[in-house]
Amino acid sequence: MFKSILVTGGAGFIGSHVVRRMVTQYPGSTIVNLDALTYAGNLENLRDIDQSPNYRFEKGNILDAAFLAQLFDQYQFDAVIHLAAESHVDRSISDPLAFVQTNVLGTVTLLNTARNAWQNDLDGKRFYHVSTDEVYGSLGEEGLFTENTPYDPRSPYSASKASSDHFVRAYWHTYHLPVVLSNCSNNYGPYHFPEKLIPLMISNIRQMKPLPVYGDGKYTRDWLWVEDHARAIDTILHQGRTGETYNIGGNNEWKNIDLVEKLCDIMDELLERAPGTSRSLITFVKDRPGHDLRYAIDASKLRDEMGWEPSIQFEEGFRKTALWYLENTEWLDHVTSGAYQTYYSKQYD
Ligand code: NAD
Ligand code: DAU
Repeated sequence: MFKSILVTGGAGFIGSHVVRRMVTQYPGSTIVNLDALTYAGNLENLRDIDQSPNYRFEKGNILDAAFLAQLFDQYQFDAVIHLAAESHVDRSISDPLAFVQTNVLGTVTLLNTARNAWQNDLDGKRFYHVSTDEVYGSLGEEGLFTENTPYDPRSPYSASKASSDHFVRAYWHTYHLPVVLSNCSNNYGPYHFPEKLIPLMISNIRQMKPLPVYGDGKYTRDWLWVEDHARAIDTILHQGRTGETYNIGGNNEWKNIDLVEKLCDIMDELLERAPGTSRSLITFVKDRPGHDLRYAIDASKLRDEMGWEPSIQFEEGFRKTALWYLENTEWLDHVTSGAYQTYYSKQYD
């Protein structure tokens, strides 16, 4: 049981689900959400829990060493769950340096701060680094990524995440910083920023806008319900072996085009449109440079050691996601218009 937990990137998609889970599961612990509120950080994701007595929000950047040191001093963290990152592959292709700064330098700055703060007493401390399956590169038609798959990152995003993973392990081997890591497949669910495939498609279907499918649409991803990821993170934080890495996946592979077509059919049904209406919006567009063909995860280590398994399959999760976006059009409209960026000043200034 950790008493004071720092979650970085808690205003983002996955981070907000992690913060919500920790705040509600551990009322006796203080959960501090540190987030720089980049374009991807949205405090409206946490509206339902932001008045909880055990929740604190701190606006700040993981590149700011002095700020981090002051925060560790103030809250005496015994655990860190590190999610803050630049996370969108397409943005990494147009601006790689931003990814080096946050994902590599930011992670090392955070590692240094934890090491300095905990140097006299590493007992009962834990530094949890949240990473991605993209560090393993791309699969062909067959096979799964295991924790022993050699790293082969192929986009600036995955190269920066791979680099951060190596630094986290180096701090374990060199300084005995008590780390644990996980590498997860594609998440989906509520509060997903509509620049990623699923929320972008839902948003465009709703507005009857073209649905841009890259290349031939045959690229394959393994989709995991985001709350299952948050539950896995909670489980690994408490039960994972120090220094170890755990793969997390949905056992739920979809080719992009099949996924988009399925989404179109569900949305037609929910919006009471004639069958085929949304499929007619599908538009094949220029491919992503260096596009990885397929990701798929073998999560048996996590299942065998800790009993974690995905709780819902895609059809059910997909319908829940589509419904959530239709019931939360205000959230979606705020994100697409940029209005969510004023929430911080309304709430905190
Ligand atoms: P996201 O882009 O939705 O959120 C990232 C958050 O980090 C935002 O709130 C942003 O404001 C914050 N942030 C960015 N730079 C910062 C900085 N310098 N200092 C402080 N805060 C900063 O990302 P996500 O999709 O929720 O992903 C979270 C983590 O999980 C990332 O580390 C990502 O690599 C990893 N991951 C994501 C997926 C996925 O499918 N989305 C899958 C596996 C792993
Ligand atoms: O695998 C885990 C990774 O999943 C995470 O580490 C990343 O942070 C997360 O963004 C996600 O990366 P992807 O590149 O797989 O996700 P994205 O939603 O951008 O794209 C999913 C697939 O859909 C991919 O094959 C590209 C394709 N795509 C995406 C967009 C945005 C399209 O065909 N059209 C689009 O408009």
